[in-house]
Amino acid sequence: MKRIPEPELMDSQDQVEAYAAADFADGNRAFSERVAEALAGAAAGTLIDLGCGPGDICRRLAAALPAWSIEGLDAGPNMLETAERDTVGSPHADRIRYRLARLPDPSLASSAYQAVVSNSLLHHLPDPSALWQAVVQLAAPGAYVQVMDLDRPDTPTAARSLVEAYARDEPEVLREDFFNSLCAAWTAEEVRDQLAQAGLALAVERVSDRHWLVHGRLPA
Ligand SMILES: C[S@@+](CC[C@H](N)C(=O)[O-])C[C@H]1O[C@@H](n2cnc3c(N)ncnc32)[C@H](O)[C@@H]1O
Repeated sequence: MKRIPEPELMDSQDQVEAYAAADFADGNRAFSERVAEALAGAAAGTLIDLGCGPGDICRRLAAALPAWSIEGLDAGPNMLETAERDTVGSPHADRIRYRLARLPDPSLASSAYQAVVSNSLLHHLPDPSALWQAVVQLAAPGAYVQVMDLDRPDTPTAARSLVEAYARDEPEVLREDFFNSLCAAWTAEEVRDQLAQAGLALAVERVSDRHWLVHGRLPA
């Protein structure tokens, strides 16, 4: 089906609350474990999570990577307020910080991060090159990059089936967000083209019936 873009930010109070309360544990755990495996044995550094939302992945990564500093970046002030609130009291809070910024942002530091990760941001962006250019801008030579997002289904009916399969018991606001996100998502094929245009030699893998994952290291 043709892609249907959705609003870039999801920062209204009810969207933030529903999103922060939703159970994304399985996906976030799998995403974070894969990052931790890729960085096992690597020299410690600073990792940035682009579009970090309520910060669950930042906290998981801080727990899994005890020598690393973790930065979460997001354009939604309410999202970041929730992230800050939920990080207070975490045993890893001193290694996590949050930054309010909207990509693209040329004022962000160049080549400053030894790992750049992002989950479920790309489909929000009006221009997907904003994410890939941010990776080029922010990643240090040899940095590990991991990006995951939804893979747009072929038809709206297929998108509805995924909502039923994975969000049947979620609040209506979240079910609609999920359906709209599936319709706004880029396919793995489209992502391959975006990476080629950005000059990023990274692998694209389909990792579930609704997700693709981009991963790899930039040249040292
Ligand atoms: C679907 S949420 C994903 C949150 C988190 N990564 C997760 O996996 O739970 C997408 C996030 O991207 C943020 N966002 C959208 N456009 C952005 C931009 N241009 N720059 C930075 N963040 C953006 C939104 O505010 C939202 O918090």
